[in-house]
Amino acid sequence: MYNKVIVIGSLNYDVCLKLARLPEEGETNFADSVEYCSGGKGANQAVQAAKLGLTVYMAGCIGEDESGDFLKRTVEGYGVRTDYLKRVPGNSGMSVAQSLYDGGIRASVVKGANDCVTKEDIDALGDVISSDTIVVFQLEIPLETIIYAIDLCRKKGAYIILNGAPAAALPEETLRKLDLFIVNEVEASFYGNTEIDSEEKAETEIRRMTERLGATCIFTLGKAGSVVCSEGRTEMIPSKKVQAVESTGAGDSFIGGLCYGLVNGKDIFESSRFATCCSAKTVCKTGGQPAMPTLDEVMEIYKGR
Ligand SMILES: Nc1ncnc2c1ncn2[C@@H]1O[C@H](COP(=O)(O)OP(=O)(O)O)[C@@H](O)[C@H]1O
Ligand SMILES: [Mg+2]
Repeated sequence: MYNKVIVIGSLNYDVCLKLARLPEEGETNFADSVEYCSGGKGANQAVQAAKLGLTVYMAGCIGEDESGDFLKRTVEGYGVRTDYLKRVPGNSGMSVAQSLYDGGIRASVVKGANDCVTKEDIDALGDVISSDTIVVFQLEIPLETIIYAIDLCRKKGAYIILNGAPAAALPEETLRKLDLFIVNEVEASFYGNTEIDSEEKAETEIRRMTERLGATCIFTLGKAGSVVCSEGRTEMIPSKKVQAVESTGAGDSFIGGLCYGLVNGKDIFESSRFATCCSAKTVCKTGGQPAMPTLDEVMEIYKGR
């Protein structure tokens, strides 16, 4: 069985401004508040897995700047191991978001150090990746590095999860090496090359995708829940009815939760029910990593095996 998780991906220093309206061209206006957060899909997924008590390594790059210090300190504070986090010259990955009170949001991301993850960094992981390891990828680091890493994971017999976000064209050959492919409905529409606008469509398309990749597939559908397809069985998993305040990190929390289920010997359907409870807790609080639940918090609503 699996006993540890390695997330190979991004870390971002997120700056979030709250403001009543966007400035006009040439105008500088006042924002009401600012929040500085540790983010990036990779770091978020690692933090959720660590908050659930798993042994988790975060592999990736941060800059030699103060935000790099902040990102390292923050993920370590949640229990993520940083032995394979590398510092590179220049800035860490970062984003600036302008968030309006009506829920509208505009954001820009600087890839920074996330763009510096190389094949050599993957080779350096050689010793920790084995058949008892779950390796998790997203698409916020260079694709050529990911393609190389998936090959290595395959050779080592690790369980490979790819969260195909943000959506990007990958060789079919690489997609066919995965154990688990997970995307939200927008990304699923991209990879399947057809709009997914209903649960029925999601069920049809996930069967097609599972067949095409020869891997387990999960499509998350926001408030509608998720659909899981594995070895000829397809199941809709409704979301938990909660007072959602903000959806930041919902999908990342789901993936951390999946890892917990798999490490604890649950099948992919039961792991997804557990993951659904993690996401439900996450959407009830603002922010990404701080909103993600501990194991005790998930157990308040998880009634599984
Ligand atoms: N409003 C909500 N209430 C309860 N659960 C939610 C809500 N929004 C999302 N979720 C849960 O989080 C999971 C992932 O959310 P989704 O929006 O699909 O991912 P992403 O963040 O990648 O877009 C869903 O499958 C669902 O279980
Ligand atoms: Mg969504």
